Amino acid sequence: MKAAINLGLRGKGFTEPNPLVGALVVDRGKIISTGFHRSFGTPHAEAMALKSVSRKHTTLYVPLEPCCHFGINPPCTDLIIQKKVSRVVIALQDPNPRVNGKGIEMMKKNDIRIETGCLEKYYARVNRHYLKFMNRKRPYVTLKAGVSLDGKLTDKHHRSKWITDLEMRKFSQSLRSEFSAILVGGRTVLVDDPRLTIRERGWGDKRLYRVVLDTYNQLDLNQKIFRQQQRFPLILFSSQTAANRTPKVDNHHFIKSDGEVLDLNRVLKILARYRIASVLVEGGGQVINSFLNKKLADELILFTASKVIGGSDSVELFASGVSLSGPIRLIHHRIMNLGSGYVVRGSINPLFSGG
Ligand SMILES: NC(=O)c1ccc[n+]([C@@H]2O[C@H](COP(=O)([O-])OP(=O)(O)OC[C@H]3O[C@@H](n4cnc5c(N)ncnc54)[C@H](OP(=O)(O)O)[C@@H]3O)[C@@H](O)[C@H]2O)c1
Repeated sequence: MKAAINLGLRGKGFTEPNPLVGALVVDRGKIISTGFHRSFGTPHAEAMALKSVSRKHTTLYVPLEPCCHFGINPPCTDLIIQKKVSRVVIALQDPNPRVNGKGIEMMKKNDIRIETGCLEKYYARVNRHYLKFMNRKRPYVTLKAGVSLDGKLTDKHHRSKWITDLEMRKFSQSLRSEFSAILVGGRTVLVDDPRLTIRERGWGDKRLYRVVLDTYNQLDLNQKIFRQQQRFPLILFSSQTAANRTPKVDNHHFIKSDGEVLDLNRVLKILARYRIASVLVEGGGQVINSFLNKKLADELILFTASKVIGGSDSVELFASGVSLSGPIRLIHHRIMNLGSGYVVRGSINPLFSGG
């Protein structure tokens, strides 16, 4: 099962809003065929693994319950029955309401032995974007920032470019490809004029939505963010009360405010309508602060440089803060040395951390 799950990881960044799924066909203890879901709209892992199998009475290892409905692809359960598979080992039932146990029922009715729960927690962790999107109808939210040892995102002049070193910035940029969208605050765009694109060649022509929270609709059309919209479509959010309510892009939403700033719940709800299953929030400080404050984030990644910056005018990671009795805790965190600092990554939402 671990091999099937890890095979599915090869689709990372390309399958959403579909899940990451790999599959193995085993006959008398030997793997005779494999497959994985490569990208959205392509055949499912089970179909890839079974297509060239002519032997009967095999075992299929597939981490997610096979589908039993017509979507872009035909039902995988039909193929499993037709290929006379005798046993199917599954990690997780599919929370998609069109499946959700019906696939398992269908196979059982056709005398296929079903085993569920194998490496369930590991798969829930690997597939956390999909599980949050399916269960909550909201994208999985990961916050990412480059910080100094004392938790500053910028120096006192609000410059952030040189906090992390080149190696960290390269790695941090390549992370974007794992997600369906990247989100920043309007001030980051005004100050840094970023492109927020994927520059690494290895990711081919992967599409990525870019999302900017620009409360007062102040962005300048000459900024770099307005370029390359074919591959990196831009979604803007501004307030219904902004003086200028002329849309700057096709996907410009004028929404309700939550006090002085935009309502993030509403933002996430609208992003889900685009079938965006995961969002990487890249700052700046106020936006990260809002996501933490509203408990709307699922995961945190900090690129920590071995530098101390200090200063009360610099942008903080989490300015509003919480009390020591209720801190935000990282679950399943990992620490990796990188360049002249380190990366810390962990879940902060126990519901979608994989247990
Ligand atoms: N070190 C890093 O990793 C990193 C990453 C990104 C940025 N930065 C730096 O951070 C600085 C910008 O950070 P910042 O804190 O000043 O601004 P920011 O977080 O980039 O943007 C804040 C602005 O976003 C808008 N906004 C709309 N809805 C919001 C909501 N619900 N919560 C929060 N903001 C909302 C508001 O725009 P209006 O002003 O229109 O109301 C708010 O002023 C820049 O200097 C940039 O270089 C550092």
